[in-house]
Amino acid sequence: MFTKIVIPAYGGPQVLKIVQETELPRPASGEVRLKMLATSACFTDLLVIAGQYPDVKQKPPLSPGYDIVGRVDAVADDVHTLQVGQLVAAMPQFSAYQDYLCLSEKELVPVPDDLDPAEAVSMVLSYLTAYQMLHRVAKVEAGQKILVHGAGGAVGTALLQLGRLAGLEMYGTASAEKHVLVKASGAVPIDYRNEDFVAHLAEIAPQGMHAVFDGIGGDYYSRSFKTLRRGGELVAYGFYNTAMGRGGSIPLEFMRIIAMNVLPNGKAARFYSINGLKEKHPDWFRQDLMLLFTLLQAGKIQPEIARRMPLRQAVEALTLVKQAAVKGKIVLLGAQD
Ligand SMILES: NC(=O)c1ccc[n+]([C@@H]2O[C@H](COP(=O)([O-])OP(=O)(O)OC[C@H]3O[C@@H](n4cnc5c(N)ncnc54)[C@H](OP(=O)(O)O)[C@@H]3O)[C@@H](O)[C@H]2O)c1
Repeated sequence: MFTKIVIPAYGGPQVLKIVQETELPRPASGEVRLKMLATSACFTDLLVIAGQYPDVKQKPPLSPGYDIVGRVDAVADDVHTLQVGQLVAAMPQFSAYQDYLCLSEKELVPVPDDLDPAEAVSMVLSYLTAYQMLHRVAKVEAGQKILVHGAGGAVGTALLQLGRLAGLEMYGTASAEKHVLVKASGAVPIDYRNEDFVAHLAEIAPQGMHAVFDGIGGDYYSRSFKTLRRGGELVAYGFYNTAMGRGGSIPLEFMRIIAMNVLPNGKAARFYSINGLKEKHPDWFRQDLMLLFTLLQAGKIQPEIARRMPLRQAVEALTLVKQAAVKGKIVLLGAQD
C-alpha cells in the first residue's frame, strides 16, 4: 500500500484527498519509477490545485506536486542512463504528491547522494527560479542594488541567499514577523503593510534599484517599476495578489509589462517563467540545477525550511502556505522505510 494525494476537482487545499494505492506503477518505455523522498508544499501548488496555473493542461482528477527528489526504484528495459538506488530530481509540475510515480528518464537530474532530499528539493522550484532570474534574466553584478518582494517566502529567501552570494545590496518587502529572517539573509527589510515601499526606497536608496523581483503583481508591477534607476529592470514572475483575490487581472498585467517597455525612460520589464525557460533552454535547467546542488554541497547556501511534514499532511501544509504563515518553505516527505 502506498499513499497518493489527488484532487477530484479544482479548489482550495481542502479538496485534496488521500488515496491508498495497492499496486506500484510500472515504468513504460523510457521511464523510471521513483520512490518520492521530498516534494514542496508551495504557492505554485496552490495555483495548480485551484486550476489557475496555465501550463498544467491535465484536468482533475490529478495528483499535484510541482517538484520532487526521489530514489530510482525501478527502470524500464530501455533505460540505460540511470540505475536503481540513484538519487534524482525533477520538476513534473504535478504528480509528485505520491509515494511512487513514473517519470521519463529525460526529465531527471542526478542529485549528489550526500545531500538531504528536503534541502535538494528546495533547489528545484524555489532556488532555480531565484537563480535564473538573477543570473539568466537580470544578469546582476556585484555591488548592484535589488528589491525583492515577498522576501520571507520560498523564492524570496532563495533570492536573498543567492543575492548575498553575488555581492548585491538588497532590500526586501515582508510582513514584520519575517523581518528577522530577511535581515539575517542580508537584506534591509521593508514592512509593506505599514509603509509605502516606493516612498521608503526613495528616501533610503535614492539612486534607485538595478533590478526588482516581483512575484506579487497587481498594482505592485507599476510601483516596482518606479523604484528602478535608469537602465534598471523589473523581473515580474508571479500574480500572488490576483491569485489571492486582491484585484488585478492576469491578461491585463501581462499587457502592463509589455507597455512598460515602450516608455522612453531607459527601464525595462520582463516576465520570467521557470517552465517557459525550461522549454526554451532545457540545458540551462539541468546545468543551473546541478550548479545549485554544488553550492548546497559546499554549504554556500542553506535553504530556509520552516517545516518538514509527512505527505499525508499536505492539506495542513498548503493551508499554512495560503495563510502566508511560513518563513521560507515547507517540504513534504515521502513514507519512511
Ligand atoms: N514565474 C515562475 O516561474 C515562478 C516560480 C516560482 C514561484 N512563482 C510565483 O512567485 C510568487 C512567490 O512564490 P513563493 O513560492 O515564494 O510563495 P510564498 O512562499 O508563499 O511567498 C510569498 C511571500 O509573499 C509575502 N507577501 C504577500 N503579500 C505581499 C505583499 N503585498 N508585498 C510583499 N510581500 C507579500 C508573503 O508573506 P508576508 O505577507 O507575511 O510577508 C509570503 O512570504 C508566487 O506568485 C508564485 O506563483 C513563479
